[in-house]
Amino acid sequence: MKKWLQDYLVCPECLPREIPLDLNPHEELNHDVIEGDLTCSGCGKHYPIRNGVAVILSEQSKQVLAEGLGYNSRTMLSAYLWSHFCDLLHDPAATDAYQLWASFFKKTDGLALDIGCAVGRLSFELSKTHARVIGIDTSFSFIQNARTLLAQKRLSFDLIFEGLITKNRSCELSSDWNHDRIDFIVADALALPFPKSLFSTVSSVNILEKVSDPIVHLKEVNRVLREGDAMFVFSDPFSWDETVLAPEFWIGGKNGGKYNGRGIDCMSRIFSGEDMIFDPPLKITKKGNVSWKIRKTENLWEHIKSQFLVGIRQ
Ligand SMILES: C[S@@+](CC[C@H](N)C(=O)[O-])C[C@H]1O[C@@H](n2cnc3c(N)ncnc32)[C@H](O)[C@@H]1O
Repeated sequence: MKKWLQDYLVCPECLPREIPLDLNPHEELNHDVIEGDLTCSGCGKHYPIRNGVAVILSEQSKQVLAEGLGYNSRTMLSAYLWSHFCDLLHDPAATDAYQLWASFFKKTDGLALDIGCAVGRLSFELSKTHARVIGIDTSFSFIQNARTLLAQKRLSFDLIFEGLITKNRSCELSSDWNHDRIDFIVADALALPFPKSLFSTVSSVNILEKVSDPIVHLKEVNRVLREGDAMFVFSDPFSWDETVLAPEFWIGGKNGGKYNGRGIDCMSRIFSGEDMIFDPPLKITKKGNVSWKIRKTENLWEHIKSQFLVGIRQ
């Protein structure tokens, strides 16, 4: 964990109280803490830093995550590394999805938060326009790999063709990305370890339908987003699934009850101030679709339409 990050962290267990975390480094390399821990001066809880990865999860988050989302597997790693960097690999099947999402970001001297960053592509893009970028995800494997990309400035991985049959794929990362400005940590979208109004830009791309309480996720975005001069980039396929989340928690995708109708319409109303989830509300400046692909094996692909909204606070 880069040492500059400690200035921005608060204890997720103590929220909504904002108690800073004290850093106790045991091993460091060039302002990067490789082994150590962070301790809350309020509740005394310790958060480990292992192999450079800080894990800043409340006890409740750990319980929810123990139920497992499968994002730590070898297949998911191959799939998401391909998905995030297929254009740099010059793969003929590549999409320009992340470049499209990144085209919404505006230059600012503020901080950016990429929630559910996976292996980090949007965070790398955000480093072109922001002074500091923090990518968070609950997958240790994704965060560890994102940090390896940060350090090595190149991608090299085993792309799965079928089962255990893989081929190495490698490429240099873009020289436009400012690696010193970025760091990645394990944290939960439902209990963000940051004080209120810290970020000028927040992104939530393809994660809404994956969290155990989408409304809590949006309330957390509202809490950490600045009240003025701020942008929220949201995108989701709204592929609600009862085996992942009970319909009472869905935002859209149902015919009756709270948040019935289409997800994008519900989200537009929420941006505009419905239920005061965004307070102050967000003015919608862009709305549309991004075509995105996940490649699981040579023969198994997911073609996804992710619907986006860009909201600003002036
Ligand atoms: C469908 S993937 C999207 C990843 C990335 N945003 C993208 O569009 O390529 C969902 C991501 O959210 C992460 N995730 C799921 N639940 C989370 C939570 N409660 N807090 C933070 N990240 C979470 C997963 O580990 C995974 O990386």
